[in-house]
Amino acid sequence: MPISAAKLIARFGSPLYVYDLAVVRARAGALATSISYRPFLPLYAIKANPCPAVVRAIVEEGYGIDAVSPGEVAIALRLGVDPGRILFTENNMTDAEMVTAMQQGVTINCGSLDRLERLAAAGGREASVRFNPDIGAGAHEKICTAGPLTKFGVHFSQVEKVARLEQGSGLRVVGCHMHIGSGILDAEVYARAMAVILSVAERLPNLRFVDFGGGIGIPYREGQPAVDLAALGAQASTLMGAFTARYGRPLELRLEPGRYLVAESGTLLTTVTSVKRNPDTAQASGRTYVGCDTGFNHLVRVAMYDAYHRIDNLSERDAPLTAVDVVGNICESGDVFARARLLPAPQLGDILALRDAGAYGMAMASTYNTRPLPAEVVVDGDQVRLARPRQTIEQLLDASIW
Ligand code: LLP
Repeated sequence: MPISAAKLIARFGSPLYVYDLAVVRARAGALATSISYRPFLPLYAIKANPCPAVVRAIVEEGYGIDAVSPGEVAIALRLGVDPGRILFTENNMTDAEMVTAMQQGVTINCGSLDRLERLAAAGGREASVRFNPDIGAGAHEKICTAGPLTKFGVHFSQVEKVARLEQGSGLRVVGCHMHIGSGILDAEVYARAMAVILSVAERLPNLRFVDFGGGIGIPYREGQPAVDLAALGAQASTLMGAFTARYGRPLELRLEPGRYLVAESGTLLTTVTSVKRNPDTAQASGRTYVGCDTGFNHLVRVAMYDAYHRIDNLSERDAPLTAVDVVGNICESGDVFARARLLPAPQLGDILALRDAGAYGMAMASTYNTRPLPAEVVVDGDQVRLARPRQTIEQLLDASIW
């Protein structure tokens, strides 16, 4: 990065989300080139990071958009994405949301038979269907989105019901979709689910695309191996090539990465506001709590999924490594970013960097404890741009009617 964290904080304040667009572009390019099968349309799962500057950079790399809400569709449309390149993966959408999406011309990816029926009844001409291949994956049970215990998708064994519905209506099922979970580092489980979804696709005669969803993980921990992207891409390409030969005509292959594209581009910078050393007691040895000016309101992944984020102390280069608990400023005991983490002994005013926070960081931030949202900055080569100003307490309060 061309500018130091201290300068960024001096200019934009603390805490601060920073995204490096060079990393976003590099990941977008790497994923696209891992797939040799053509035609291929990668979609960006905008939920991971809807910051317009980030989404624009990915769209400029040739990506379409996977949206899961009317708001996400609106972001894509406002950025000028062609509706034909937007997939609205619905999940318990309302009829009103469905009608709006039809008017917008985006493809609705139906997650239940009753939604598909209502789309047909409303005069829908085309739809995609999300299937549950009954194989789930993911870094935590809360982000496993297939298998017997999830609310998502039409169970793959019900494909004949989808085919019958299609025969009896003017609606064509043009897409066959799955998304089995998030944070997958094992290409093998992904490939097994792909095979199930292709066996489903075989039963649907009017397809234009098959979408294997997102879920590619990143190595959050020091020394953790990255996913073998080349192997994953080769598997997807080979399976799809063999399938379309059987199917009798080429179909578009789609993937929907979110985290893989943006996680590593993002850092949450925070400032140390307190260093507290608790004494040893009869029950336990004392801990050192390093408090900072952000909390799970701004990065909930650790509290919610027991996720691990690398932390660097950017201010102390030579201080001795010390085991500390890095905690936030929210009034809950679960507001912990790391336990017994070895850091160069933090001092008041130090800047800490919570790494790999570009995916599901700001996207999941809240104003809990009536704390405003942080600012967002993008670094693009030697340029630094404010992407979202820090929310003020006045703005937060003015959102309600007094
Ligand atoms: N497609 C669909 C339909 C999805 O539901 C998701 C994520 C994706 C694609 C992108 O998945 P990714 O490539 O980012 O793994 N908040 C959690 C992750 C939840 C993911 C939900 N769906 C976290 O912080 O780990």
